Amino acid sequence: MTDYSQIPDLASSVYVAPLRKPAGLADDWLEPAQRRYTVAEHRIWDELYARQIELMPGHACREFMLGLERLDLGRGGVPDFDAISEELRSLTGWSVVPVPMLIPDHVFYYHLANRRFPAGNFIRTREQFDYIQEPDVFHDVYGHVPLLTDPVYASYMEAYGRAGWKALKYNRLKALSALYWYTVEFGLILEDDALRIYGAGILSGPTETVYSLEAESPNRIHLSVDRVMRTDYTISDLQATYFVIESFRELFHLTEQRGFEPIYESLAPGFQYAKTAALDTDHIYHRGTQEYELRGGRGSGARPV
Ligand SMILES: [Fe+2]
Repeated sequence: MTDYSQIPDLASSVYVAPLRKPAGLADDWLEPAQRRYTVAEHRIWDELYARQIELMPGHACREFMLGLERLDLGRGGVPDFDAISEELRSLTGWSVVPVPMLIPDHVFYYHLANRRFPAGNFIRTREQFDYIQEPDVFHDVYGHVPLLTDPVYASYMEAYGRAGWKALKYNRLKALSALYWYTVEFGLILEDDALRIYGAGILSGPTETVYSLEAESPNRIHLSVDRVMRTDYTISDLQATYFVIESFRELFHLTEQRGFEPIYESLAPGFQYAKTAALDTDHIYHRGTQEYELRGGRGSGARPV
């Protein structure tokens, strides 16, 4: 494995100057949509948190655990966005912007490139406890925000936002989305020779927290940026393949140093590899049986969380 310890400490290069706002981007999209929560909604957060925190030891990576602790996300009820942002700003220069719904890609990238994470301000109902269609405040804040306390991961997310603008220019959003999917949402990381989870899509729900590390069915393959950006993925079910990194420094290095223009220029519009594929060129940790896929998964509908 490559030694990434020689990369300069990214914490010292926290991005401060905001990028210029792109023409045509309405201010409405950038205003924080803070809202108040009912007692019942706070209780839903508490129940989701209690269920999930139980599963974290032995599954979540250590940077995630540290972030949960630093931000005190288990203090009771839906966390206060201002309080989280204040703490995050002091650590990595990030903040969290509450948004009422899924936002357009260009707005999302503009926020990330400026170290602002857009988080859904609504919370699922009790009927949606196990299956949700759109990412809510529990997925976004519990799943994504803890890792923004880590300086290297924080730099990766900013670099991703910047890459988004280039992808728009080259019309290669699908490929860049696959990278987000297989890292930020469903990424695994090696920790003391054991696999752990850093992807928010996994960490915000119990089913995949166990499945991603322990099931025989999915592939577990070392991350290659070019390979991942050519690979199809599952939106509404458990993943057929997980990609593994050895550290956040490696993730940052592989993406930032690779440069996205050459990749965009070489990509075909569609995906080249099926989500179940294991290639001869892959570094495979576990070749999945794909039995879950062969059985047809769980059918259509919202993804299990
Ligand atoms: Fe997410």
